[in-house]
Amino acid sequence: MKENAPTMTTATDTAATPTTTALIHISSLVTNDPSLGEGPLGLIQDAAVVIDGDRIAWVGETSKAPATDNRVDAAGRAAIPGFVDSHSHLVFAGDRTEEFNARMSGRAYSAGGIRTTVAATRAASNNVLNANVARHVVEALHQGTTTLEIKSGYGLTSEDEARALSIAAAHTDEVTFLGAHIVAPEFADDPAAYVDLVTGPMLDMCAPHARWVDVFCEQGAFDGDQARAVLTAGKERGLIPRVHANQLSYGPGVRLAVELGAASADHCTHLTDADVDALAQGDTVATLLPGAEFSTRSTYPDARRLLDAGATVALSPDCNPGSSFTSSMPFCIALAVREMGMTPDEALWAATAGGARALRRDDVGRIAPGARADLALLDAPSHVHLAYRPGVPLVSAVWRAGTLV
Ligand code: NIG
Ligand code: FE
Repeated sequence: MKENAPTMTTATDTAATPTTTALIHISSLVTNDPSLGEGPLGLIQDAAVVIDGDRIAWVGETSKAPATDNRVDAAGRAAIPGFVDSHSHLVFAGDRTEEFNARMSGRAYSAGGIRTTVAATRAASNNVLNANVARHVVEALHQGTTTLEIKSGYGLTSEDEARALSIAAAHTDEVTFLGAHIVAPEFADDPAAYVDLVTGPMLDMCAPHARWVDVFCEQGAFDGDQARAVLTAGKERGLIPRVHANQLSYGPGVRLAVELGAASADHCTHLTDADVDALAQGDTVATLLPGAEFSTRSTYPDARRLLDAGATVALSPDCNPGSSFTSSMPFCIALAVREMGMTPDEALWAATAGGARALRRDDVGRIAPGARADLALLDAPSHVHLAYRPGVPLVSAVWRAGTLV
């Protein structure tokens, strides 16, 4: 890598929009399109990318790049597709520092901690919640995340869930209704009545604001029958399922996700051979969230086992105030490589193309003609440095939909 910073030269200052920009002298470009370059990541050395408006127009070697209005010299930095984070819980207030502190002194994580955030979130104004989401979206963006799913799940009344979804929708198209995060405190003695609320009036209010329906299928949250009821009702209202599955214990979540055609089964920490087979044979992506195991001091999911069986794996930070208060995809890549048996190439793919699969998107997660122009420049000669140099802020520039952030 050369020492100089990326520089932009403009051929004409008065060019009409949209302009074309060539990003040149990229030491190593991950396209995630095997037809464009080498291996599964479609790697190109000394590459160039042409951005036209909000789209990628051309990808290839710098020496063959077409003429453009502007040129940006990457000066030997690597470039990757913007990260696609398919799992976050950003509509919340308060924090859970005390719970984290207690865990680090030996107390176990349990689903019950969610109640602390529900109380703080209900008490917060729309402005506070919106500002919190905005802050974390920007925080993620500066670490290279250009697509971000956001869930509700800390309101747990019809009004508070609908409010969370409309706040999330101001920041992303990928909005998930998670009224079934835990049984709302008011229904502690009658969980069946809460499931009736979630699958009835709450769903009526929330479905118009969401694309996805999710459920926390876990001891202390919802069992297999309750999760099935929530996901089936959501499907009937046009929402696509995704499932918090097999995070804290073995259970029916993963097989239910595959059976119902969920886009993703998330966590996948405690898997039987039958769960792994189901993921390998179905279309459901296994989304692994190693920030949760890091922050709850738990055993990591076995990504190697899933990949060797033929499952599709995505990675996400699972940013939330309880189990994983990080928005950093580079941190998760480092954990996936060091702790979960993934190669740096597999982890990069999972954090980009894998996330896109988990959101059923083909316009993001790759750098190829026609895709949205989302990319990150790294202060490093290749993407491998994301795992090789953990904790170092390597993301030095981010384009989202063709705009330099
Ligand atoms: O993905 N597992 C359920 N939901 C979150 C944690 C929520 C919380 O603890 O506030 C998760 O880990
Ligand atoms: Fe989660």
